[in-house]
Amino acid sequence: MTDVLEGVRTHYRAIGLTERLKTVLAVFGPEGQRLTSQQLSALDQFHTRGLAATAELAKLAGITADTSVLDVGSGIGGPARYLAETFGCRVAGIDLSEPFVDAARYLTERTGQAGQVSFQTASALALPFDDARFDVVLLQHVAMNIADRAQLYREIRRVLKSGGKLATFDVVLNGGDPHYPVPWARTPETSFLLTADATCEAIEQAGFHTLTAHDDTEAAKNWAAQLRASGPPPSPNLGVVMGPDFAQLAANLGRNLMEGRLGILMAVFEAVSKSAR
Ligand SMILES: C[S@@+](CC[C@H](N)C(=O)[O-])C[C@H]1O[C@@H](n2cnc3c(N)ncnc32)[C@H](O)[C@@H]1O
Repeated sequence: MTDVLEGVRTHYRAIGLTERLKTVLAVFGPEGQRLTSQQLSALDQFHTRGLAATAELAKLAGITADTSVLDVGSGIGGPARYLAETFGCRVAGIDLSEPFVDAARYLTERTGQAGQVSFQTASALALPFDDARFDVVLLQHVAMNIADRAQLYREIRRVLKSGGKLATFDVVLNGGDPHYPVPWARTPETSFLLTADATCEAIEQAGFHTLTAHDDTEAAKNWAAQLRASGPPPSPNLGVVMGPDFAQLAANLGRNLMEGRLGILMAVFEAVSKSAR
């Protein structure tokens, strides 16, 4: 594993995460009792605007019960569980962080979705799937941890069927260097931001054409302002996953958005067949 991947893995190492989750989720009842996605949504959607953003992205991607979905950088699995519950589709997730994958499997058992949603530890740069296996790939708040964007988008194109879709929701560089630490990186060494235009260009070069791309920054700023006004969130929340300094990391993301340093891109791309390129 390269130094960069090792650095990212360290950032998301979340030692003892599943045990911590068991403790905080006891508030919803004993182990044998099913959890709902609503109960988990404050801690299992690890991106700006949480569940609302996942729902919007899924709608843009046109997911139905017949869609086979891969969630790249699936975190602790909230987006994957939401898609399976809402559309009845099957979802596979991969993530670099073993503790996250462990936690994702545990939570998916607890929601009773293990037959429909699966997770494995893997790198987005070497996806453990055959070519042309999926209809939709979801990539939410992951690319900013990946230096080799060309390889990332090539791998995603490889596992998508021609005509399949890449649905992405990512933090992008806007008007200046961000303040660190941020939720995906405590230092600049593991942060690899591109502008929205450069992101779309890199994706198109890997064999896609843009179906829709919109600037989600204003919505993210409103969300950050609401969080700031409402004070510390009730537990369970994402601090359980990322540690006690998470409030500081999230506050810096809000500040970077407010100061126009960072932006948010929501976009869907179609995989172009080789003969059409
Ligand atoms: C901010 S979290 C987002 C998680 C999830 N997509 C969500 O929105 O809830 C970023 C995730 O990307 C994963 N990640 C970062 N670099 C990766 C890589 N090269 N391969 C696979 N996963 C990666 C991290 O382990 C982490 O779970």
